[in-house]
Amino acid sequence: MTVAAEAVELGPLQGFHDLAHGEDDFRKAVLDGLSQPQKRIPCKYLYDERGARLFDQICALEEYYLTRTEIALLEQHCGEIAQLVGPNASLVEFGSGSSLKVRIILDALWTPAAYIPVDISREHLIESARALAEGYPDVAVIPVCADYTRAFSLPDGASGEPRVGFFPGSTIGNLTPTEATVFLKKAAAALGAGGGFLVGVDLKKDARVLNAAYNDSRGVTAAFSLNLLARVNRELGADFDLGAFVHTARYNTEKGCVEMHLSSRSRQAVTVRGIRFTFEEGERIHTEDSYKYTVGEFHALARGAGWQPARTWIDRNRLFSVHYLEAV
Ligand code: TRP
Repeated sequence: MTVAAEAVELGPLQGFHDLAHGEDDFRKAVLDGLSQPQKRIPCKYLYDERGARLFDQICALEEYYLTRTEIALLEQHCGEIAQLVGPNASLVEFGSGSSLKVRIILDALWTPAAYIPVDISREHLIESARALAEGYPDVAVIPVCADYTRAFSLPDGASGEPRVGFFPGSTIGNLTPTEATVFLKKAAAALGAGGGFLVGVDLKKDARVLNAAYNDSRGVTAAFSLNLLARVNRELGADFDLGAFVHTARYNTEKGCVEMHLSSRSRQAVTVRGIRFTFEEGERIHTEDSYKYTVGEFHALARGAGWQPARTWIDRNRLFSVHYLEAV
């Protein structure tokens, strides 16, 4: 674990841990992903600086019911959440983005000891962590720049008990159920006995509602998705014509997930780092899946990964669920 103190002005932060792998990894993932029969680029690369900003805009969209529904659930039940968590907790947020939802939790907890936001988007992470630290002078804020599906050693400042994970936004749905199980098992080991996990999970529902949420009428989701190709152009010197690809999202009822792709409008070729990739008309690059769960399905998944569901809250329209899990 490296502490990049020279590069980052710490200000009110208690430390900064940079575990990200940088350009090399991105190049490998893109070249490898585009060489597969089903072309793909891993979704974590959607979140560069511009991507993180566009994602914040998605969260504010009318069609994207997830964010406001989850926030309302957290606000409504934060007292009960605080009781389940207990005093002096260290809160570890996976994929912390703008660190907005965690304020609801921190405001409700009794003397929270530390907040460890883990995110892949470095500048956005530092900026958000700094803003949070200024508002919570009694909480040790220690950002970790990492791919949380890989790095699982928590910084020393997180040694306060209990350790509680926070994974909102149905980001767990962006992992396959198998990956989600592996992630939850690793989280159980890292957070330790007596730990808890607060997870936001989008519920299965009418396909029309889901399709609208991932295909908004203002095209913000399309811009977010196409920014992935813009990033490949910018960082890897590729020549993707952004106008020649279109964002598609469709709920796959059998798999229970929204599948997102960038679809080629025509037969074309693209060069990335000197390697030529050809696309047929309609050929797609898979960018992301967003799995949806019933309450029962998610409980079964959590139990299979060493967690006991202690409490579940859902909104009256049955759109979204928030779960508090306890380590068994
Ligand atoms: N966690 C979010 C979700 O599954 C991520 C997300 C929302 C997303 N909209 C998107 C990812 C559009 C890619 C494209 O709902």
